[in-house]
Amino acid sequence: MYKICVIEGDGIGKEVVPATLEVLKATGLDFEFVHGEAGDEVFKRRGIALPEETVEIAKECDAVLFGAAGETAADVIVKLRKILDTYANVRPVKSYRGIKCLKDNIDYVIVRENTEGLYKGIEAEVAEGVYTATRVITEKACRRIFKFAFDLARRRKREGKRGKVTCAHKANVLKLTDGVFKRIFYEVAEEYPDIEAEDYYIDAMNMYIITKPETFDVVVTSNLFGDILSDGAAGTVGGLGMAPSANIGDRYGLFEPVHGSAPDIAGKGIANPTATILTGVLMLRYLGEDEVANRVEKALEEVLEKGLTTPDLGGSLTTFEMAQEVVKRLKEE
Ligand code: NAI
Ligand code: MG
Repeated sequence: MYKICVIEGDGIGKEVVPATLEVLKATGLDFEFVHGEAGDEVFKRRGIALPEETVEIAKECDAVLFGAAGETAADVIVKLRKILDTYANVRPVKSYRGIKCLKDNIDYVIVRENTEGLYKGIEAEVAEGVYTATRVITEKACRRIFKFAFDLARRRKREGKRGKVTCAHKANVLKLTDGVFKRIFYEVAEEYPDIEAEDYYIDAMNMYIITKPETFDVVVTSNLFGDILSDGAAGTVGGLGMAPSANIGDRYGLFEPVHGSAPDIAGKGIANPTATILTGVLMLRYLGEDEVANRVEKALEEVLEKGLTTPDLGGSLTTFEMAQEVVKRLKEE
């Protein structure tokens, strides 16, 4: 039995998460879903966006499934990633048939360092009208994120994927911080002679995910670069409604679609559940349920290919109807 902490959050989180729970239930696995609250609405009601009891639930479960927060996102999801020390932010970029993508053979994973870099939150006013943000790079965090990336490439290679890690940095300008980042990348690479290693400057990388995305397998980068690169990458495979993510640490796994609460479409029942269902697939793999994960992904692939989708992908189904199409296929097997 798996105990899952479910945090729907705000806006479309309240739609895409329940839709995904239906899919998870249809797998036949034994789940206990423990709901925790967080987000704007809780903040309005209780004056706190991430209540302590929600953090406690998250810590005692096997995994956390999170929808989206609104304006309190920094105090909810960014904080939760920190509390759970989930140092690797994993964002698969994959083209599915039936979805308008830049190319039809895109299949790589962006691994973003999740704990430091420019998002450490160290900002200051150092003189009248002068402000700074401190970019923190530690050898320890570099080593663990690179090991994570190479281990992932190795697992993917066993599944027939390329077996390559690409490091994106800006060592020519950020000579010390990214100099260290690049040096440790190649040090760790030596421990993985079976995996190819290459590196690019982040600006060029930003072009390559558009001009030659099919050549990548695992892409590893620092916090801010990864944040920007991964939203752009999502745009090459159908947009935010298609982009799942996992936050992985040594003790906890926190799973969330990349998108936010989407107030412009919230409450209309038209949010695309794909990103969250694919997030559920990542969670299943984390729990060691690869075979079940493959079944869910296959069912979803069929639904996408048939155009049984929400309006953002050109279809006319609601969030729940689309999820129901996946459920139907899982039950038919
Ligand atoms: P957003 O991701 O919520 O929406 C951007 C655009 O993509 C909107 O037009 C929206 O309708 C569309 N979209 C997003 N997900 C979709 C889906 N599943 N199906 C169909 N269309 C989808 O980002 P935005 O508008 O910048 O932020 C809205 C709120 O969400 C803000 O309050 C922001 O702070 C919060 N946010 C929270 C995040 C989180 O909890 N992880 C991440 C990003 C934003
Ligand atoms: Mg972002």
